[in-house]
Amino acid sequence: MRNIVIFGAPGSGKGTQSDKMIAKYGLKHISTGDVLRNEIKNGTELGKTAKEFIDNGQLIPDELMIDILASVYDSFGKEHGGVIFDGFPRTIPQAEALKKMLAERGHKVAAMIELDVPEEELMKRLLLRGQQSGRSDDNEETIKKRLGVYHHQTSPLIEWYKQEGIHNHIDGLGELERIFADVCTVIENI
Ligand code: AP5
Repeated sequence: MRNIVIFGAPGSGKGTQSDKMIAKYGLKHISTGDVLRNEIKNGTELGKTAKEFIDNGQLIPDELMIDILASVYDSFGKEHGGVIFDGFPRTIPQAEALKKMLAERGHKVAAMIELDVPEEELMKRLLLRGQQSGRSDDNEETIKKRLGVYHHQTSPLIEWYKQEGIHNHIDGLGELERIFADVCTVIENI
C-alpha cells in the first residue's frame, strides 16, 4: 500500500503533483485544504470555524483536523492501493495522530516527499494564483502569515520524518515534468 505524505510550504506544488500521481498511479487523495474549502462553500459549522483561521493564515486546531482525517480515510474502504496526504500533517501532533490512526488499521505512511521551493518563488506563484482564482488566502499579507506558520509549526516535521526514515527531498523549483519524474522515482522505490 502506497500511502504518501506530500509535503511543502504553501505554493510548493503539493496539489499539482498530487493530480499527476492520482492520474498515473490511481491513488486516493486527501487534501485537507480542499476539505475545508468545501465545508466553507457548504456553509457548515466546521466551515464557519475554518474560514476565520484560513483567512488569517493560521492552522485549524489539531483536534478538528485529526477527526476529519480519520473519517475521510475510512471512506476509501480497506482495500485501496494507497492515499496521498496533501496538506496533512502540518504539526508534530498531527503526524503522531496520523501514524497512530494508520497503525490502528494495520497501515503506515510509506514515504514522505518534501517539495523544496525558495520563498520568493512561493510568493510569486501564490500571488499569480490569487489573481487567477480569487482564492481568499492568496494575498500578500495572508501569504506572509502562511509562510511564517509553515516555518514555525510545519517545517519541524522534516526532521520528524527523517527520524522515521521515510523522508525524501525533491527540488520543487523548475519544470513540472522533471519534478514529477523525481516524485515517480520515490513512489516506484517503495
Ligand atoms: P492548503 O489548501 O493545504 O494550502 P497550502 O498548504 O497553503 O498549499 P497550496 O494549496 O497553497 O499550495 P500547493 O503546495 O498545493 O501548491 P499548488 O500545487 O496549488 O491549506 C489552506 C489552509 O487550510 C491553511 O492555511 C490552513 O489554514 C488550513 N489547513 C489545511 N490543512 C490543514 C491542517 N492539516 N491543519 C490545520 N489547518 C489546515 O501550486 C501553487 C501554484 O503554483 C499553482 O498555481 C500551480 O499551478 C503553480 N505551480 C505548481 N508547480 C509549479 C512549478 N513547478 N512551476 C511553476 N508554477 C508551479
